Amino acid sequence: MTDVRELLLSRIRDVPDYPEPGVMFKDITPLLADPAAFTALTDALAEIAARTGATKVVGLEARGFILGAPVAVRAGLGFIPVRKAGKLPGATLAQSYDLEYGSAEIEIHAEDLSADDRVLVVDDVLATGGTAEASVALIRRAGARVAGLAVLMELGFLDGRARLEPALDGAPLEALLTV
Ligand code: PRP
Ligand code: MG
Repeated sequence: MTDVRELLLSRIRDVPDYPEPGVMFKDITPLLADPAAFTALTDALAEIAARTGATKVVGLEARGFILGAPVAVRAGLGFIPVRKAGKLPGATLAQSYDLEYGSAEIEIHAEDLSADDRVLVVDDVLATGGTAEASVALIRRAGARVAGLAVLMELGFLDGRARLEPALDGAPLEALLTV
């Protein structure tokens, strides 16, 4: 494991039985509070943005905002929020996705993307892949191309990667850590 990965891993706190019994929550707040770790994370994700030729960064509410916005600034790219339904005032595109119990909906401002854009999606965690899959669908419906998906960590045992790969259609899925 590289020094950067070791640093990032050391700043993620395992919280057992949160938000419900049997779940091990991966808390990134110690990483965000450590400027060296947060800078290393931002630099690693911005390098992926450059390498994939992204023209825009999309962050997924809420933790994807915290990670994605500084990546956009560092990479010199615009930032576009994908928000949970009902928060964006303009003309939106909406996409539903399944949760363990029920469903959720996310939205994007359609005008923020064009056919010239290649979008890097940034989020903290890839779990089942449902959120990321819906965001990829939104980007395509907005007429843009997907440059890739970059996450701090992938929960390997949930195999979101297998679910997402068809949706990504050859675009890379980059996880800095697999836990
Ligand atoms: C969490 C996490 C990812 C998503 C991953 O978001 O931040 O966005 O779940 O799960 P999936 O791969 O199964 O879709 P959540 O909406 O729970 O919380 P947040 O608003 O704090 O980001
Ligand atoms: Mg999230």
